[in-house]
Order: sequence, then C-alpha cells, then structure tokens
Amino acid sequence: AAPALQGAGSVKQQISNLVALSLRATVPEVDVEPIVEVCTGKFGDYQCNNAMGLWSKVKGSGTSFKNPNAIGQAIAKNLPACDVIESASVAGPGFVNIVLSKSWVAKRIQDMLVNGITTWASILPVKRVVLDFSSPNIAKEMHVGHLRSTIIGDTLARMFEFSNVEVLRRNHVGDWGTQFGMLIEFLFEKFPNWEELGSQAIGDLQVFYKASKQRFDEDAEFKDRAQQAVVRLQGGEEKYRAAWKKICEISRNEFDQVYKLLDVQLEEKGESFYNPYIPQVLEKLSSQGLIEESEGARVIFIQGHQIPLIVVKRDGGFNYASTDLAALWYRLNVEKAEWIIYVTDVGQQQHFDMFFKAARMAGWLPDPKEKKFPKTSHVGFGLVLGADGKRFRTRSTEVVRLGDLLDEAKSRSKSELLQRLTENGKIVDWTDEELEQTSKAVGYGAVKYADLKNNRLTNYTFSFDQMLSDKGNTAVYLQYAHARICSIIRKSNMDVEELKVSGNISLAHPDERVLGLYLIRYAEIVEEACTNLLPSVLCEYLYNLSEMFTRFYTNCQVVGSPEEPSRLLLCEATAVVMRQCFQLLGITPVYKL
Ligand code: ARG
Repeated sequence: AAPALQGAGSVKQQISNLVALSLRATVPEVDVEPIVEVCTGKFGDYQCNNAMGLWSKVKGSGTSFKNPNAIGQAIAKNLPACDVIESASVAGPGFVNIVLSKSWVAKRIQDMLVNGITTWASILPVKRVVLDFSSPNIAKEMHVGHLRSTIIGDTLARMFEFSNVEVLRRNHVGDWGTQFGMLIEFLFEKFPNWEELGSQAIGDLQVFYKASKQRFDEDAEFKDRAQQAVVRLQGGEEKYRAAWKKICEISRNEFDQVYKLLDVQLEEKGESFYNPYIPQVLEKLSSQGLIEESEGARVIFIQGHQIPLIVVKRDGGFNYASTDLAALWYRLNVEKAEWIIYVTDVGQQQHFDMFFKAARMAGWLPDPKEKKFPKTSHVGFGLVLGADGKRFRTRSTEVVRLGDLLDEAKSRSKSELLQRLTENGKIVDWTDEELEQTSKAVGYGAVKYADLKNNRLTNYTFSFDQMLSDKGNTAVYLQYAHARICSIIRKSNMDVEELKVSGNISLAHPDERVLGLYLIRYAEIVEEACTNLLPSVLCEYLYNLSEMFTRFYTNCQVVGSPEEPSRLLLCEATAVVMRQCFQLLGITPVYKL
C-alpha cells in the first residue's frame, strides 16, 4: 500500500521516504540513508544514487546481486506502488532515474493554490534558532557591512520562519566597552543639560563620536576623566548609567529608522545584556581548567591557533570574546536554542572559529563531525566595493549613510518609471501613491537583491546602474516578470479564484511539465538555502523560475487558447511562488509595472 505522503515536506523528502522503503526491502541487512538528488540527465526528474555505495558494502558477503546495476534494478522495482512515481529506470552503474507522475505534480500545484503556499513548507530538523545579525555598534557608524548583515540575516530568518522554525532575531549591538567613558564625559562637557535632551538634540552621533575621540586623543586630562568614567559606569553609578542609557537611546533611534525602511524586525539584546553573566560563565570554564594566565591576561589556549582567546584583559576588563561566550551560554541554556547563527563579515571568522572551539572544549557543543544539535554557525560575507574596486564609500562623507542609499535607489527607480510611463502614455493610469509605493518596492528591493544574489562570501560591487537595470538577474527584471504574469491573469476573462477549485491543471506540453516540476521544487530550495545558510540559492531559483515561465509563455498560448483554464492556473501558481520568494527575500512584490 502507498505510504501516507501527501503534503509532508519537500518533494525530495517525499521521494526519499519512498526510496527508504525500497532500500529496506532491497537490502534489509544494511541500514543506509537514501541518497536522492534532482536528476542531472534527461531520463528522470529525481535520481537515487544508493546502488554504488551499497554494492561496496554487500559484495563479497555472499549477496545474490551480481553488480551495482543489479542493486539499482532492485531498488527501482521495490519502490512502493503509489501515485507519486510514474516510472523508474536504471542507468550506467546503477543510477535509478525516477520520473514523477504528471497528474501528481499537477495535483500538488493545485493543492497549493487552494490551501496556500504554507503547505509547501519544508520540514527542518530544528525547532528553535537564534539568529544574531545586524548588530551595529552604538555611536559608531552603521556601515554597509551592517547593511549586509541586516539583509542576509533577515532573509535567513524569514526562510526559517516559513519552515515553521522559531527564530529569535537578536541584535547583538555593541553597547558596552571602554568607548563609553569618553562618550559620557564628552556628553557632560558639551551638553550640561543632557538629561533634558530629546533624541535628536545631539545631532549626528557619528560626528559626536569623532569629536569625543579627538578630545580623548588630544587632552590627557580628558582622557583621564574618560577612563574613570568607564570605571564609574561599570561600577553602576547612577549618573553614569543614565548618561550611557541616553547615548544608547539616541543610537537606537537611528538604527530603528533603517530597520523601519528595510522592514526588518529585530530584538535588541546588546553586549551589556550578557555582562552580568560573564563572571559565572568564566568561573565554570575556569573550574574545568580551561582558563590560564598568560602575560597578565586570562586566556583559553585553542588547538590549531597560535594566539590564545583572551577572555579577561590585563586591566581585568571583559571583552568581545567573553561577552560572546556568556551570550552563547545564555542562548543554549536559557533560550534553549538548537542552532545559533551569527551573521558578520568574514573578517571575524577567526574570532568565531576560536570561540566555537572553546565552547566545544567546555562540552557545550558536540563535535561538528557528529552532525548533531546544538550547533553554531558563522555566516560570513565579503566586502561591498565601490566602482573603484575599493571598500564602498560615498564621495562627500567617509561613511555611507544607509538611509541615503535607499533613498537614492528609490528616487532613481521613480524617475525611470516616470519616464517609461510617460513614453507609453500610461502615466494617467497611476496615482501618486501607486508611483511612490512602486518605486519604493522596486528601489529597496533592488538594493536587497543585489546583495543577496551573489554567494555571500564573494565581494560585490555596489552599482545603482547595475542593480536598477531591467535586464539580467536583477530585482527589477524579476519585478517586471511577476507584474507581466499578473497582467496576463487580469487580461483573461476567466476567474482564477473559481478555477483554483473547479479547474484542472494538465501538464501536456513539455514546457508546462518543466515549469510544473520546477514549481514544486520550491520547498527543497528553501530547505537547501536554510541548511547551507545561503540566500543566493533562493535568488537563483527565482531567476530560473522566471526564465522557465518565459519559455512556457513563448511556446504555450494562454489567453484565448483551449488550454486557457489550465494554463491560467500555471500562471497563477508561478506568480504565487515568485511572490513567496520575494517575501522571503524581504522584497515587496508589485502587481503592475
Ligand atoms: N558588533 C559587532 C560588529 O559590529 C558584530 C557582533 C556580531 N555578533 C556577535 N555575537 N559577536 O562587528
């Protein structure tokens, strides 16, 4: 009898379940995981690659199989009879090519149209994730690196959330540390009435930071006061705590504006939050004999690293690493997260590598070779470069203001849109509000997509011209592709909502079948993007999907053809999946362009 499969997990997971049953019947004496991939050749849709590995396990053990191909034949034959698979054949040394049944593919798509895309959520082996991303430093610049972290982190969060994983979105802001002594003293000096100040009164915090740094470097007496201020702050003196809070609040307001523009949700748990936990965590590590004295500091020596991980500085203060150890302890033991993910530039890889190893030495985490939870991952990313090939900066100021950057993307896309609409006389169909919303969706989306589409480890060049082009792999191109599908659906006289229930998808034409198969791969793509923490996988899927749609649309007439009901449903399904991809990438889809 066919096992109960409908709906649960990605198609790949479902095929794997069927293959697992076959493997148990074929070689009951060995326990193996099914190896199922998307088929690379043209003889199947998915393939099972277990036969070759199995052969090396069973040969010489008196097995009745003559060769790996024979095992492949048996795997194919033992696949349970069900409505998923149409046929299976064996190629070469034993690759089992599996062809999916057209009607099953069609039914899966139609189910999704009726019951919603959430029925295509993949099943991940994890329930709760901490995602530590964005994490700028108070009073310092929030630079493009933080923008990357924000965009990549948010997308990962959205993908996990879509897969029904609980995500604790954590903004690990740098709100603690010695720079606060200088900032507080400067605040006292510059704004004697600081307690009454509104959040805008200080003006630009980065300028404030620079000025106080200058004061610190130039005046020994000020420097002295600043150093005492750190001690008084950390000692919990009221006035210093209040000043610290004020500075954090001003900074937070600035950050929040960017998050609002980007539509990113985050919960701030800054470095200061973990500070009270540091002594007890270090105490534990110490009692395990992990912490040693070295040149006046307290450190953890880690195999494979020349320099140790410093956890207490020579002056007795805690640092970035001790904070991260305490935060990890908290996330594992209080928040009970199974997977803790950190999104920062690759420059911090060594830090993460070392402190993950320290956590393993302490027995907090299993050996990564065991592939078990809990686990930690560092999601590193490369630099954003300017047209000159150097680190991205704007001409006027040294730093790139994220708000300005998004504004520019929006105004550029608005003028392009206006020009185009004026040229083809369509401007009359648009309200100001529509124009504004659309340029915002297109502009902001372009910035995000340009960041997400590359493998995150590669550096990428920031170019408005490139990201706002309507050709090639850009968000603008994809927005157009989606809007075109919406317009096809609008043009038809048929009611798509009604068709979803009463109509039938048939995948008779080869291009329809290819499109249908690619649509149902959606869940496994999200699964892969989550597993490997690679948003670019989803971008690639979205782009390919729009290309496949174009091929289908070129070769299969929709409106006015006898197949209109079925093809309209395929259009709708493509639009739904594209929108869901946009949604996971944090991009607002537009329905008309
Ligand atoms: N504030 C740090 C920076 O700007 C990033 C923090 C990342 N998270 C962490 N738990 N270390 O570089």
